[in-house]
Amino acid sequence: METTANLIDPMNLAESLQTLRSNVASDIATASDVAELDAIEAGAVGRESPIAAARRNLGKMPQEERRDAGRLINEVAKEIEGSIAERRSALAAEARAAAIEAEAVDVTVDYVTVPAGRIHVIQQVIDEVCDIFIGLGYHIAEGPEAELAWYNFDALNTPRDHPGRLESDTMYLDYGKPEDEMLMRSHTSPVQARYMEQHAPPVYIVAPGKAYRNDTVDATHLPVFHQIEGLAVDDAITFSDLKGTLAEFARQFFGSNTRVRLRPHFFPFTEPSAELDVSCFNCDGGESTCRVCKGVGWLEMLGCGMVDPRVFEAVGYDPDSVTGFAFGMGVERLAMVRHGIDSIRHFVDNDVRFLNQFPG
Ligand code: PHE
Repeated sequence: METTANLIDPMNLAESLQTLRSNVASDIATASDVAELDAIEAGAVGRESPIAAARRNLGKMPQEERRDAGRLINEVAKEIEGSIAERRSALAAEARAAAIEAEAVDVTVDYVTVPAGRIHVIQQVIDEVCDIFIGLGYHIAEGPEAELAWYNFDALNTPRDHPGRLESDTMYLDYGKPEDEMLMRSHTSPVQARYMEQHAPPVYIVAPGKAYRNDTVDATHLPVFHQIEGLAVDDAITFSDLKGTLAEFARQFFGSNTRVRLRPHFFPFTEPSAELDVSCFNCDGGESTCRVCKGVGWLEMLGCGMVDPRVFEAVGYDPDSVTGFAFGMGVERLAMVRHGIDSIRHFVDNDVRFLNQFPG
């Protein structure tokens, strides 16, 4: 900027240039943007500037002073241009930094927070039991929950007058004409019949799923619950295989010291039939005050038996060339015993304070 203060006095060149130099230096230092700097540059060294005027004046100077004067002018001009260039790049860097700051996006910010869910304790037990049997060479099979009475009862050697077939016990979708009867399966055993009908022996399967019974909800009953069915059919399966397999399962599920015992029982589709008890994992059968087994020492675990030849006949197997065992366990029961849960209702209450205790 050409101010009177910046005018060059040709008679006093060195001093005027010195004044110009320090005036311009403080202007440059306080310039706040590039446009201001451009104006300072034009005013100090541009065509209409005191420097340009001083250069034009050189011709009028005595020959002997001209060289030194010219050198002095160039020196000051160069210095001013240098500090302008320096300040210009500093201002540009500041502008860039400010832009980066202003336009920055914080990619670390949580923009949606959905709490992670977890696998329901019933599904955890299903997965664990299935894994144990997969380790023993079994496959997973499944069947429909809405089932024909044929698979739920008839193919499983359950006579028409069996109490479980009453409308008061089983949830029927279609009731009255036995051939057409449809129901919500009352156990997972119909998967045995469906699977054998579709596959030639040998068979080694476990079938997890829901079962339905017309039961009133209480501490140990739900009208919808879960079972895991097991079926092994081969050319020489014995009752020892049944016991050995279930003992191995019990050791893997409840702990390596677990013992098992079989009590005679009845199921229409197995002969002989039994119920399997496991030694109480809490007191190992030694405490009359045990809260898990109530002093009994044994925990009732599942129903099982050797597949009745009439079931083989119903599914088209030759009962003279195969034998097998089957078992069915209640998943809620397994989970209650394993975790010391006092009411089956907790599994369906959907109270996260309960569910969060089983992180899986
Ligand atoms: N289906 C029987 C029940 O629900 C259990 C069972 C399965 C028993 C397989 C023997 C063989 O009680």
